[in-house]
Amino acid sequence: MRLPNRVGFALGLLPLVWLVHGAVTETLGANPIERIIRMCGDWALWLLLLTLSITPLRRLTGWGWLGRLRRMLGLFSFFYALLHLLGYTVLDRYFDWHDIMGDIRKRPYITIGLLTFLLLLPLAITSTQGWIKRLGPFWRTLHRLIYPAAILGVCHLFLMTKADWRLPALHGMVLALLLGMRVFTASTGSRTPSSQGDSHSQGNLV
Ligand code: HEM
Repeated sequence: MRLPNRVGFALGLLPLVWLVHGAVTETLGANPIERIIRMCGDWALWLLLLTLSITPLRRLTGWGWLGRLRRMLGLFSFFYALLHLLGYTVLDRYFDWHDIMGDIRKRPYITIGLLTFLLLLPLAITSTQGWIKRLGPFWRTLHRLIYPAAILGVCHLFLMTKADWRLPALHGMVLALLLGMRVFTASTGSRTPSSQGDSHSQGNLV
């Protein structure tokens, strides 16, 4: 594993280490389950936005090594989304499927959260070199699902917010900026030579 990947891997594990440490030392506050669910949700979304920022950052800086981090960031985003979902299903709802189905039907933010997760799932599954070869050009098309996934992830945050809109608004602005940069690049056709022909150069999760 190269140095940027090693550093990325260690940093990606930090939130998990922090959570496990907090759970063991009982320092996650008055409602540890809510803390775990919320923290994993936050990291899933932040890492998703970070994944989307890699291509524009690489174009701006010309740092090719950033491209190698993208798959790892995308997979860590999925990993924390999975922990978030497990936290909700196991710790919060105790596998009560009747309750969970009720939430999915009645709470729009849960419905949107589930849709976000379902969009991330095929991206994580097809993140290996084997799948890139097997799917050919369709792989890149499939990985454009990262855009609706990020939009729905931010909607999920908006829909659960009751009072202070600053944080969801900030996430929305970051996403709008990242998507705006993509649209600008696509409309001016100003992809860097280094990004052409690279299966990891588009807005893919991995
Ligand atoms: C089936 C899938 C999902 C379910 C059931 C779910 C459920 C939840 C629940 C119950 C909360 C806590 C709400 C509260 O405490 O009031 C939450 C918060 C959150 N979720 Fe999800 N979620 C799902 C998928 C996702 C995904 C895929 C992402 C990101 C990509 C995400 C990002 C967030 C964020 C950022 C928060 C807010 C955390 C905070 O307030 O600090 N969720 N979600």
